[in-house]
Amino acid sequence: MKYTASLVKLNIDERISARRAEALSRGIPVADDETLNFLLLMLDATKPKRILEIGTAVGLSSVAMLLQCPSARLTTIELEEDRYLEAKQNFSDFGVTDRVNAHLGDAGEILAMMDGEFDFVFLDGPKAQYEKYLFDLKRMMKTGALLFADDVLLYGWVSGEEPTPQKRHSIVDKIRSYLDVVTSDKELITSVLNVGDGVALSVYKPQNNR
Ligand SMILES: C[S@@+](CC[C@H](N)C(=O)[O-])C[C@H]1O[C@@H](n2cnc3c(N)ncnc32)[C@H](O)[C@@H]1O
Repeated sequence: MKYTASLVKLNIDERISARRAEALSRGIPVADDETLNFLLLMLDATKPKRILEIGTAVGLSSVAMLLQCPSARLTTIELEEDRYLEAKQNFSDFGVTDRVNAHLGDAGEILAMMDGEFDFVFLDGPKAQYEKYLFDLKRMMKTGALLFADDVLLYGWVSGEEPTPQKRHSIVDKIRSYLDVVTSDKELITSVLNVGDGVALSVYKPQNNR
């Protein structure tokens, strides 16, 4: 037996697993099992009360996070209207609507206008924009908040383990820039982990503690 990431058996509601598989079959992007498992582990360890998610898709990671954290509230942002509407239906089906604040629109614009305090951020929207979002995310993160950024190794292109296809150089450069910023920011403690397609975990430790 090989003890590898493929051993991950997601411990989530079977109805979520079924909807994740069905969404994937329609080409809807959802976090892979290894990443979702690690995300739920981190949520269980940190027990956040306020979660912010960038990139709702059809709301299945949102539902999984809320079921893992029964006393948490979640704010989530999605650009595509059909996905946003399907997410709202999923929130209703899983009985979490009253704990969700779902936004439809561009995350950059919404974050810039948003106020709030979060103790956990799941950054899973457009990868090229991660660095741009950082200013507003830090503005709304509490001391000790965890920033969980997904897909930061992108098929091994970012680390250089795999050659980057010609058309993907721009996004790879932007993710590298995000990693440069979060690993050199004195207010963040960051580790980049080879989980799923790469996760950057950052803890926010501002100089003048809030
Ligand atoms: C990887 S998927 C999210 C998957 C979801 N978190 C899950 O695990 O089930 C990324 C989502 O971000 C959305 N997105 C892309 N650009 C966006 C933007 N500028 N603002 C908000 N959402 C955006 C996409 O439509 C897509 O549904």
